[in-house]
Amino acid sequence: MCGIIGYVGERNVVDVLLDGMRRMEYRGYDSAGMALLSGDRFDVIREVGKVAELEKLVHDRGLTGCLGIGHTRWATHGGVTVENAHPHSDESGRFVLVHNGIIENFLDLKEELENRGDHFSSQTDTEVIVHCLARLYDGDMVHALVELQKKLSGSFALVILRKDDPDGFFCVRRGSPLVLGLGDGENFCASDVPPLLPYTREVVYLDEGDIGEVTRKGVRLWDDKGCSKEPTLQEVDWDVSMADKEGYSHFMLKEINEQGAVVRNTLKGRLAEGRVDLSEELQWSQELVASWRNLHIVACGTSYYASLVAERALSKWTDLDVRVDIASEYRYRTVRTDEKTLAVFVSQSGETADTIAAQRLARGLGAHCLAVTNVRGSTLSREVHDTLLLKAGPEIGVAATKTFMGQMTALYLLALYLGRLRGGISAAEEIRLAEELSRLPYKVETVIARENSLQGLAERYVSCRDFLYLGRGYSFPVALEGALKLKEISYLHAEGYAAGEMKHGPIALLDDKVPVITVIPRDSLYEKTLSNILEAKARRSPIIAIGTDGDSLLETYADHVVTVPWTDEEFTPFLSVVPLQLFAYHVAKLRRCDIDRPRNLAKSVTVE
Ligand code: M6R
Repeated sequence: MCGIIGYVGERNVVDVLLDGMRRMEYRGYDSAGMALLSGDRFDVIREVGKVAELEKLVHDRGLTGCLGIGHTRWATHGGVTVENAHPHSDESGRFVLVHNGIIENFLDLKEELENRGDHFSSQTDTEVIVHCLARLYDGDMVHALVELQKKLSGSFALVILRKDDPDGFFCVRRGSPLVLGLGDGENFCASDVPPLLPYTREVVYLDEGDIGEVTRKGVRLWDDKGCSKEPTLQEVDWDVSMADKEGYSHFMLKEINEQGAVVRNTLKGRLAEGRVDLSEELQWSQELVASWRNLHIVACGTSYYASLVAERALSKWTDLDVRVDIASEYRYRTVRTDEKTLAVFVSQSGETADTIAAQRLARGLGAHCLAVTNVRGSTLSREVHDTLLLKAGPEIGVAATKTFMGQMTALYLLALYLGRLRGGISAAEEIRLAEELSRLPYKVETVIARENSLQGLAERYVSCRDFLYLGRGYSFPVALEGALKLKEISYLHAEGYAAGEMKHGPIALLDDKVPVITVIPRDSLYEKTLSNILEAKARRSPIIAIGTDGDSLLETYADHVVTVPWTDEEFTPFLSVVPLQLFAYHVAKLRRCDIDRPRNLAKSVTVE
């Protein structure tokens, strides 16, 4: 939440900052701001609303320069006002900084500073940071930042300009991500990689507590004790086109369309002679694998729903005791986690605060921790024992789509691999299932090509206010995900429910104005779900069924039938989720919602 950026070089810093802020606007879009340093003069511009609002102001003022910092905000402390927008400065105007994160002891610090005579002009925790910094600074920036870290509790990434330092900026990270981008005569820093992609793919991920100095000539790093350290250079395998809309009207639609490729890429290099082989990435000894009894999967939001899908496959193909938890719940109840536990943390961003905290808890209790994430170098992936990457490319739309697909693919690979290592599945069955997994990209693409029918359905039902999504077995998490997509981007009320549970309560909501969207593939639970459709139909609800090609029976039960190609029961979520994503997309489009940047949301939820 919140995106921060810094630049020094020959380009017009205003253009670099605005472009970068737009590229990470998914991190927050309540307000935006930037500060430029020219000579010994700061220009600070802040505006409420999206980056486009700031852009108008900046262009009206005709600002240019070569050194500056920027911020796009998701409000935590203090309302959405210009005064609370970043950057913030100390009273003397010597420092200006932008911040991503939360300072938990800011009220105590503020009181202490006010007692010493400081005045504040915002309600933010960030202004407290810059006041503390000004008081700690004695001419040595690294020392001041070491001391600052000791004073602050919470999470933060900061980019800081100092009035008497026209050569560059400092930055520091603890708990919030920060990556440096290295160019030729220019250097960058940002919360995420996408803002860097138009200029460089050479990056340095900061470690916890790292302090960086970024000038035109290069970067220098110190650890949290102020000891100098060598930057570790990495090359990112994303390119700038991956973070562009490429002709699509929205990132979400582009990302839905990329889903076949995401499955393909995530499988690539992980199947050998028809069998799953993750041994290069997961260097697990036979002994280690044999020691596990429990498998815990922990995640939030869409990642949690992908985990619920995988739970079913993992329980079927392995002998492990599998349980799936929402990260914010896992942390606060008694869970038997120990050395016999493989704990899997699923997070697109790898920056979700609750998931990271749950990982720390599980690791502390002795579990072997694995991250399933889309972002190499993310906080989560740096803290776990092992990482399995999705290879989905950057996901810019705030509503997750292609990474749900990537997560299911990666988790299914894990399920088959564990099944093989622990003897829970025969070689022949593994090969058969891996073959079907390899066919999925084509089937996913077939479903995407049927987009028109979903557009028609969206037109038909756009005026409804409440929707019920039903599914059983593998289709239950799909119903949850379909409902989440509709809520997130169209602001309509949608509930996902286990089809068999409907009669235990939600049925009271049904009437002819509440469509029931039922995920009903031709699987072992088909007849049961069919009965639930009848129950809803008897209450006059319009029925939309997501079924299997060739299922003519469904036509007689449902008002509208959308079908997807046949696949094994275990793989049905890969196909049935796509019509639900497209339905949500078209409803939101008809309602003229801001599809890629839905209100109140941010892509990475870095607060607990
Ligand atoms: O980055 P993560 O996968 O950890 O994010 C988890 C959730 O915040 C995320 O899935 C959220 O629910 C999305 N907005 C779903 O579309």
